[in-house]
Amino acid sequence: KETKLWGGRFEEGVTDAVERFTESISYDWQLYKYDIMGSKAHASMLASQGLITAGDRDIILEGLDQIERLIQEGKFEWRKDREDVHMNIEAALIERVGEPAKKLHTARSRNDQIVTDLRLWCRDAIDKILIRIKQLQVSLVMLASKYVDLIVPGYTHLQRAQPVLLPHLLLSYVEQLERDAGRLVNCRERNLKFTAPMKNSIDAVSDRDFVLEFLAANSIAAVHLSRIGEEWVLWASEEFGFLTPSDKVSTGSSIMPQKKNPDPMELVRGKSARVVGDLMTVLTLCKGLPQAYNRDLQEDKEPLFDSVKAILGMLEVCTEFAQNISFNSKRIQSSLPAGYLDATTLADYLVKKGVPFRTSHEIVGRSVALCVSKNCQLAELQLDDLKAVHPVFEADVYEYLGVENAVNKFISYGSTGSNQVKKQLEDWRIQLGIS
Ligand code: ARG
Repeated sequence: KETKLWGGRFEEGVTDAVERFTESISYDWQLYKYDIMGSKAHASMLASQGLITAGDRDIILEGLDQIERLIQEGKFEWRKDREDVHMNIEAALIERVGEPAKKLHTARSRNDQIVTDLRLWCRDAIDKILIRIKQLQVSLVMLASKYVDLIVPGYTHLQRAQPVLLPHLLLSYVEQLERDAGRLVNCRERNLKFTAPMKNSIDAVSDRDFVLEFLAANSIAAVHLSRIGEEWVLWASEEFGFLTPSDKVSTGSSIMPQKKNPDPMELVRGKSARVVGDLMTVLTLCKGLPQAYNRDLQEDKEPLFDSVKAILGMLEVCTEFAQNISFNSKRIQSSLPAGYLDATTLADYLVKKGVPFRTSHEIVGRSVALCVSKNCQLAELQLDDLKAVHPVFEADVYEYLGVENAVNKFISYGSTGSNQVKKQLEDWRIQLGIS
């Protein structure tokens, strides 16, 4: 066995169990690009401070480039007995270029290296996620554009509430995703700029709040995606029948030949558990640590990598799902008369006639009760029936009944009114660069 780079004071090597337990190369090799980037910057700093010669610096830089190429070509041997990505690269560099490489670790610790590598990795990961969020937003806006006039039931408590335009619902996801992106941009700007040194070296090496912020932002995004997943799974059911995923995004059953399941969206819902769990892992990991570096921090990598892998996959699959579903306009329209979606509009009608809202709520409640007993819709009640409930009803009441009339009554900012929704759809198309 080779002597460890830190082995000077040791008489015996570690046991196999300790070696297996403490190694991190099996996953932190993924940081090699950033580790090499950091080492190159470090070598340049050492030269500019007069701690190594320009000649040694150039040998180091050249050696690091060669190692990077070897890794990219899959020709680099990662050794568990060399513990981690830092030692693997440093030991290989010493093997390659000899003495000058032994000067590279002047004035730095692996603890400095790992936190630098991780920040650089997070910065690229955030950029990848931001691209995927935008792709999903684009596909949602395109989907919304196909159904500009389609009215769907709005729900609260999963009970029918008021009618809304489908694009209004789809744009609500787009808004949420925009805030998800904003949180990631915010995290990137606060923690990952690399425009100046950190002011406090203890802080620099000991905190992982940038990982936590990133994982928290991912978790919120994952919860949003999970809710889309749940809604689409529900809408794809026989009971709702509001949307049909194409074969390309559905899977079958091993026993029931008739089945066509929306598994991808179920897994979007499922993977959100992972992303939230990853945040919990690192929060718990950090909570008992004294300053500064503690080896516990090695345990932040796997949840971080896992969270990013999961969220990238979730975004990709949601995008493909949005590109491969169709809404069943006929089925949706034929379902609209149920559930008294126009009841609140009727209460607004009475308010216009001067009735206080609490009173009009009560009057419409009694009108709905009448419909329930007659098994009819509000629009099917005769004017005399309505007048019997309250004399304030007049013939113009029928301009407020029915889902189309109800939707048309919405005019205020942010509402489901057709002009509002069309304007916002257009704004999103411009913002996202959709021609
Ligand atoms: N592998 C460690 C980590 O991921 C970095 C190396 C620090 N090791 C050490 N013995 N100080 O945090």
